[in-house]
Amino acid sequence: MPNLKKLVVLISGTGSNLQAILDACAANKLPAQVVAVISNKADAHGLQRAQKHNVPTAVKIKSPGQSRTEYDAELAELVASYKPDLIVLAGWMRILSHAFLKQFPNRVINLHPALPGAFPGANAIERAFNAFQQGEIQGTGIIVHLVPDEGVDSGPVLDQAVVPIFQNDTLASLTSRMHEAEHRLLISTLQNILCKMSV
Ligand code: GRF
Repeated sequence: MPNLKKLVVLISGTGSNLQAILDACAANKLPAQVVAVISNKADAHGLQRAQKHNVPTAVKIKSPGQSRTEYDAELAELVASYKPDLIVLAGWMRILSHAFLKQFPNRVINLHPALPGAFPGANAIERAFNAFQQGEIQGTGIIVHLVPDEGVDSGPVLDQAVVPIFQNDTLASLTSRMHEAEHRLLISTLQNILCKMSV
């Protein structure tokens, strides 16, 4: 199909959000194709998901002794080789430094399972669940945001969704509701961004 925007997706693990993107592309719900999936972990399950969709994969592991700047510069070179229109961090568990981000201004987006400013960093769903049980919060949510700098889950918000927490929730039931909400929000945000890029 002509005019498909090129996405490079960076992952570190399961890749359920990657799967949502792959499925949306296959169903023509996104005017895009995933041109590469890159993982910083050799055993990330998302790599197999990409291979099932015949998407090229690469594993880029930081070598012992390699500086963050060197790693990020090499990663940027690898990503740039696919000429992406947009880079999606979908469960990518490394903070990207300026050495990477300067190559792709306004073209890196991240998904985070918490509302703006709440629970940045790892284990956000579990931390929200615990805070709910302590009576500190009523609910949680998801954001998709731009990644302009090294701030953790803090860039300009492109879209967000509130996710309720119920009294009878377990961490597992909340996690499952969060992932469903993430998949929906990621695809709708990508639809909006890609539409604007096509104009
Ligand atoms: C998601 O909750 C995402 O928001 C967070 O890491 C998780 C990745 O899940 N940054 P998956 O690998 O896409 O299943």
